[in-house]
Amino acid sequence: MEVVPLPPNAPVLMEATRAIGYSLETALADIIDNSITADSTRVDIHFFPIGTAYISIIDNGYGMTKEELINAMRYGSRNPLDNRAPADLGRFGLGLKTASMSQCRKLTVISIKNGIVVGAQWDLDFIASTDDWSLKLLSEDEIKFFPHLDELLASTSGTMILWQELDRLKVGDSKFDDNMGKHMDRVREHLSLVFHRYITGESGLKKLQIYINKVQLESIDPFLTGKSTQVMDEESISIDGQKVLIRPYILPHISMLTESEIKMLGGGEGLRKQQGFYVYRNKRLLVWGTWFRLMRQGELSKLARVRVDIPNSLDHMWTLDIKKSVAVPPEVVRKNLAPIIEKLAGSSKRTWTYRGKKETEDSKIHVWNRLKTHEGGIVYEINKDYPLVEALRQLGGPTKRIVEQLLTQIERGLPLNQLYVDLTGDERVLNENEPSKTDLIPLLNQLFSGCRNDLERKEMAERLSVTEPFDQYPEWLSEFLKEAN
Ligand SMILES: Nc1ncnc2c1ncn2[C@@H]1O[C@H](COP(=O)(O)OP(=O)(O)OP(=O)(O)O)[C@@H](O)[C@H]1O
Ligand SMILES: [Mg+2]
Repeated sequence: MEVVPLPPNAPVLMEATRAIGYSLETALADIIDNSITADSTRVDIHFFPIGTAYISIIDNGYGMTKEELINAMRYGSRNPLDNRAPADLGRFGLGLKTASMSQCRKLTVISIKNGIVVGAQWDLDFIASTDDWSLKLLSEDEIKFFPHLDELLASTSGTMILWQELDRLKVGDSKFDDNMGKHMDRVREHLSLVFHRYITGESGLKKLQIYINKVQLESIDPFLTGKSTQVMDEESISIDGQKVLIRPYILPHISMLTESEIKMLGGGEGLRKQQGFYVYRNKRLLVWGTWFRLMRQGELSKLARVRVDIPNSLDHMWTLDIKKSVAVPPEVVRKNLAPIIEKLAGSSKRTWTYRGKKETEDSKIHVWNRLKTHEGGIVYEINKDYPLVEALRQLGGPTKRIVEQLLTQIERGLPLNQLYVDLTGDERVLNENEPSKTDLIPLLNQLFSGCRNDLERKEMAERLSVTEPFDQYPEWLSEFLKEAN
């Protein structure tokens, strides 16, 4: 047997890896992963669309020495099978290169560590001319002329990634400068979501500030923690001695959300589309808005979002892709997720069956009226014509005012969010129970006692025969009428 060393052809392989499928936002997220791993507390992204356009990313992490930088520039700087430190967001030893070259033809990395500044560059056109893996190492003089260098050097350590010759962003884009604004909006949204737990500075994480053209990003919390209902306790699944944590949330009903909260959660349509699992690898959001085919994206579960936390030590089980935008849970996790979502969605088929309450657009008199507003919303109001309400309001004087206020407070305080949770939960909501005769008879007594003659009594009986819940018990009503006579 003969063994022939067969290294890849540099320009061909480099060109080919450009097509891994990064978008601008996923590429930037991959670069920020490296900054987080390097203990950064601040990342500054600059978009410069005018003239010779560029994008730069500067962090204040621990930086790299010359040897570290040269190794970092290598395609395959680390073995994907290596064990990684628990907080390391990397896996393949490729992200810096593949993410960058997916967007540009010239990648420069300048880093400062222990007061020493070093720089290196991959230049696709230069590589094509040498037909080899020719990494350019930059001299001090060459480094001097790069933009934003002063910002990098303001920290004692840190790294700047510079993307020049942004050919991919220009493809099919005649108004490149204008469209850059739209690109930036998408980037802003993506990073605010993907790194939200770092931006918030969740306990155990170093708080990270991300700026785009000097504007700081705010975190997008897809669970609206604090306002959402946590339906179940956090569950922990042990796989290979490692913990996967699962925490289901039900978002507040849309009527309880402010405009900006709805927007933050993905807009009206986004609420439905973005239901599902939110999988975090080392607290960094990887994939979201999918039920992994364990459940259909149904209407009733549209407010359900389930946080799944996986450690990087389980990467081998989660079929991670190079962009880290695909993660398929292993069979053992799927098995454990199934009962959790069943519990979330299981009783969603159960409808609100209490007679008379289901439909308010009928000729019945209900305690609650369901009204459509001009703005297209829905309001539930206590029916002021409901016989008992009417009787109370007729009391007049200060009592009447208190009753009015009480009714308003009941309307405002309707626990819509909790009701939603309960109705889709396993336990029966006992308000649906039928009223008993001993409940209703005193009520009827009360109502009929206000009638001054037989005519009024007959009128009352007629009204009650179409009033919930009395309409369900015509026999009691007629019995009562007979007695009253
Ligand atoms: N901002 C940075 N600060 C310090 N070191 C960095 C920085 N960016 C990259 N590095 C170094 O370069 C190496 C290569 O980065 P690269 O993103 O290519 O691979 P990775 O992060 O190890 O794995 P992955 O391909 O999964 O991202 C890193 O392992 C790290 O040592
Ligand atoms: Mg990386």
